[in-house]
Amino acid sequence: MQFWHWTIVYYVAINIMTFILYGVDKKKAKNHKWRVSEFTLIALAMTGGCIGAIAGMFVWHHKTKKTKFRILVPLSLLLHIFLVCFLTYQNNHLVVTNYSYKTDINCRIVQISDVHNMVPYWDDDALARKVAEQNPDYIVITGDLVDSTHPDIDSAIRTAESLAKITDTYYVTGNHEKRFSEAKQAEFLQSLRDVGVIVLQDEYVLLTDNSGREFVLAGMDNDSIGTPAGYALIESFPEQTVSILLAHQPQYIYSGAYEGADIVLSGHLHGGQIVFGDLGNGMPNNRGTGLISPEFVFFQEFSYGFMTERGTAMYTSRGIGNSIIPWRINNYPEIVVLTLHS
Ligand SMILES: [Fe+2]
Repeated sequence: MQFWHWTIVYYVAINIMTFILYGVDKKKAKNHKWRVSEFTLIALAMTGGCIGAIAGMFVWHHKTKKTKFRILVPLSLLLHIFLVCFLTYQNNHLVVTNYSYKTDINCRIVQISDVHNMVPYWDDDALARKVAEQNPDYIVITGDLVDSTHPDIDSAIRTAESLAKITDTYYVTGNHEKRFSEAKQAEFLQSLRDVGVIVLQDEYVLLTDNSGREFVLAGMDNDSIGTPAGYALIESFPEQTVSILLAHQPQYIYSGAYEGADIVLSGHLHGGQIVFGDLGNGMPNNRGTGLISPEFVFFQEFSYGFMTERGTAMYTSRGIGNSIIPWRINNYPEIVVLTLHS
């Protein structure tokens, strides 16, 4: 579910409940029965049921003369208007994160990750314009273009198409696409190919950098990570050639699943959703950690940023959209620009 879906569901539910409880309490007061406590009635308003509370006060003529209700209920409404504006901005303010890395090739790669069907909040053109402004040599999409809980394939394909019009665009699957049936997966991947996206499923292509030097761009299917197919892909890379591997899930670097690749681009952990303090982007080995990953791991190490491990450099994007946890704080949706230079 996305930010707005959860927000609307939450506010509608708590406001209906609050409105009803104010009515129930009024009725109990008239009949001199056991009451709903004032603490509960105010707490409901403070936790989001403020419109229901105001409506309940006026419709049921209840608590309208109590000073604490006259102050705290409207105050809670103002607080929640601020909170919704704040979270909307936090979830929709698209930023560009720049990294540069010294290696043997010269080129600029723009990475888009974990869109989760969220692009309509800006529209595809706005995202594509911002990507085009970065002058990418290549664009890579590192999985979860769709969200499996409410997949919108047409939206995902539109996003991919708008990117593929800018420059050569490569795609690798994430865990959300792999939740589709095999037939639906095949149809989705074919739709990507039809709009000009190059799908990499346990395969690599040889690309050239700005100086005409060849390098490997490989894509590891999400289900092949840490399996013989994944290891075989890396073993197949030509020697003495810089290799860039697209693989959705960064945490597998610790078990050696990416050993042998020079650079890995990943996503999946959504920056840990809520980040405390300085993001530290661009810092060497910042190994960013957020509060909770989509896998419900608290303070999962390396939820975003740059690290090196077992001779491999890895960049993990905070991604653009959300999946099961719908809110981001201090963790804006990001476009990653990786400048490789010799
Ligand atoms: Fe994701």
